[in-house]
Amino acid sequence: MNMNTTSVSMLVLVLTSICVESSHRIIPGALPYDGYHDLHLPHNPPLYPTYAKVPNTNFRCDGREYGYYADVQASCQAYHLCNDRLIASYLCTNGTLFNEQFQVCDQFYNVRCGSHYIDL
Ligand SMILES: *[C@@H]1O[C@H](CO)[C@@H](O)[C@H](O)[C@H]1NC(C)=O
Repeated sequence: MNMNTTSVSMLVLVLTSICVESSHRIIPGALPYDGYHDLHLPHNPPLYPTYAKVPNTNFRCDGREYGYYADVQASCQAYHLCNDRLIASYLCTNGTLFNEQFQVCDQFYNVRCGSHYIDL
């Protein structure tokens, strides 16, 4: 009797934890929620800039060391090569932005445009 009560209590406890757990993590029969998945779905308007060519901005190379720099005014889809003066300008493909930390066009959700990379 006492053993039975303990078993029932244990069962209720286990079922309760499964229900609580599933309510905010896994819906039975559904795929687990993945926040990154939403970022890959089409959004209208898109979640990133969609320039067709490098826009005119106030970006200047003055006072910058040699290197590639994201153009914050172009929402970081555009980037520039500086070597004393402006050498060349480029555009990342749609859905990507220039990541100054890794010096590549990166998925837009990996880039906090205008924020120094140590903040990331
Ligand atoms: C980005 O998408 C826009 C709208 O579809 C298009 O006009 C533009 O050419 C694309 N940019 C690049 C770099 O492919």
